[in-house]
Amino acid sequence: MAETAQVLIQTPLSHQPNNTHSSFIPTDSSQELISFDDEIPTIDYQLLFAHDHDQRSKALAELRRACEEYGFFYLVNHGIPESVIERALEGISEFFNLTDEEKREFEKKDSTDRIRWGLGFSPGDHQMVKREYLKVLPHPNFQGPSKPLGFSEALEDYYKRDREVILNLARAVSKTLGFEESYLEKVFDVENGTDVSAMNVYPPWFESNTPIGLPAHFDAGYLVSLVQNVNGGLQALHKGRWINVNMPPNSIFINNGDHLEILTNGKYKSPMHRVILNNKVKRISLPTVHGPSLDKFVIPADEFVDEFHPPAYRGMTYKEVLEANGYHIIDGKSCMAQLR
Ligand code: SIN
Ligand code: FE2
Repeated sequence: MAETAQVLIQTPLSHQPNNTHSSFIPTDSSQELISFDDEIPTIDYQLLFAHDHDQRSKALAELRRACEEYGFFYLVNHGIPESVIERALEGISEFFNLTDEEKREFEKKDSTDRIRWGLGFSPGDHQMVKREYLKVLPHPNFQGPSKPLGFSEALEDYYKRDREVILNLARAVSKTLGFEESYLEKVFDVENGTDVSAMNVYPPWFESNTPIGLPAHFDAGYLVSLVQNVNGGLQALHKGRWINVNMPPNSIFINNGDHLEILTNGKYKSPMHRVILNNKVKRISLPTVHGPSLDKFVIPADEFVDEFHPPAYRGMTYKEVLEANGYHIIDGKSCMAQLR
């Protein structure tokens, strides 16, 4: 596609992954599938806004460290009732249990479609990747599938609460960068931002001819939230090691997105992540990319650029990323972040 050439990100050397999508074509030697149970930071959402100054400062310092050293963390005490998350996940499960004929109604027919059902990661890779997905745009003007009954309402309830949590979290992240709390909101024009969500279902590996659920990639947007029905599958790259994401009960997994990385000139990097099928059960995930407004041209902000830190990224709009279809590895980094 024409957009591909425009979506250029120059990746700092330190952020160039050793792995690209193509290295995840399943092989017999599963060397690349090795992963670790290293600890992942946990951030208490309530403490980020605590009245007590010391408590708040400590929580913000932990958030800064999580964003800078990892690029991902577990968010606990976020206030979204467990029942809201459960209802959304149950609805997703029921949707995927519809017949293929019923689901085909939601297959992409037009580039403006706001609901898209499909298989694989990008067109043509159904054999290599075991994922079935349903993509929607939670914001603005959420529109969910007409079936099963009550599914759209359950999703809408979750997305509303998720967006509120992420907006507040973005305020806390702004503070960790040394700015006033509305900084990220303003710079990304979040009010007019577009959120993109992909609901995924992965079979257990014994039902599959490949261990790959979703190849390694990066996410667009500024912050990405994810909930799931079960641990076992999602892995994030940290210091060259694939770390298993083992979420504590009723937590949300958060990761930095590419636009936060570009804005901060690489200070808050967007982590590479992937999904390996687990050996027990069908896994369902609900990730949501929270993005700037579509035409916002995001470049490294002046505050992160000096003679020792020249701009490491060419700017790009969110729209360019969303329109880029399939695998987009430029300078070792994926710009692929279209409606997953
Ligand atoms: C994604 O990275 O888009 C999905 C991750 C997951 O299914 O856990
Ligand atoms: Fe992702």
